[in-house]
Amino acid sequence: MSYETLLVEQTPASAGGQITTLTINRPDKLNALSPVVIRELSEALRALTAETRVVILKGAGEKAFVAGADIGAMQTLSVAEAKAFTDQGHALGRVIEQLHCPVIAVVQGFALGGGCELALACDFIFASERASFGQPEVNLGLMPGFGGTQRLTRRVGLGVARELVYTGRQIDAQEALRIGLVNRVVPAEELSDAVMKTAELIAQKAPLAVSACKRVMERGYDADLTTANELEATAFGALFGSEDQREGTSAFLERRKPRFVGK
Ligand code: COA
Repeated sequence: MSYETLLVEQTPASAGGQITTLTINRPDKLNALSPVVIRELSEALRALTAETRVVILKGAGEKAFVAGADIGAMQTLSVAEAKAFTDQGHALGRVIEQLHCPVIAVVQGFALGGGCELALACDFIFASERASFGQPEVNLGLMPGFGGTQRLTRRVGLGVARELVYTGRQIDAQEALRIGLVNRVVPAEELSDAVMKTAELIAQKAPLAVSACKRVMERGYDADLTTANELEATAFGALFGSEDQREGTSAFLERRKPRFVGK
């Protein structure tokens, strides 16, 4: 499938399956999230099969991951249209969170507004030293509308999130690392390698196990501990119906490398 605003690239992973890189491709608009970008990104993610073991999500060019929701496209929205637009952004966040495999956001340059929110919907973020993050919506008479008031709070804590959202202040990569918004910061020229190495590491693991971890961590995070642990117990038990559970444990006992098939 080809897209107007998105590049899709499949890289065979070293141990079966593949790593899919999705690049938002509007560099002249700093990859701003127009309704078309959001629709195409949702479609591309929904079209992925179990063959994909990890998704890498990035923005084209060196200047931005995504500089926000498309301000031009938003300017004249009616109340109802604005609600529909935010619903579209929220639906994209859910597609990412409910995907069968991890999604790594790769941020070089700006991740502002909807860009920061998009990165937050991913499983985790790797950033270049030149990255900067922020929720500048209050500068525009707006507020975060793609989950920022909720996911940023869950990622960095209520006090820090409040300060960032109320001030609209941009933070650099080191501050983002310090507050736990990003997992790793590396020099720009090392970013692709660092991300690919981590994606490869994940792709070598038993896919159903990784998928179950993602599902339980995502659903369990907002549940009470008893409910969340029940989710974990159910998913743990279910894995014992998989070929990969038998392969993984046998390989350990036979002192050989496992060969996982995703069944
Ligand atoms: N929506 C739509 N277009 C955007 C955009 C956005 N969120 N962010 C940048 N662009 C466009 C600019 O309009 C410009 O287009 P043009 O060349 O056709 O005029 C192009 O991308 C380059 O941006 P520019 O502002 O010239 O780059 P800069 O280096 O001077 O500044 C930023 C970079 C990120 C600081 C600045 O673009 C900015 O503040 N963007 C908006 C950030 C924001 O408020 N995001 C939240 C939106 S809710």
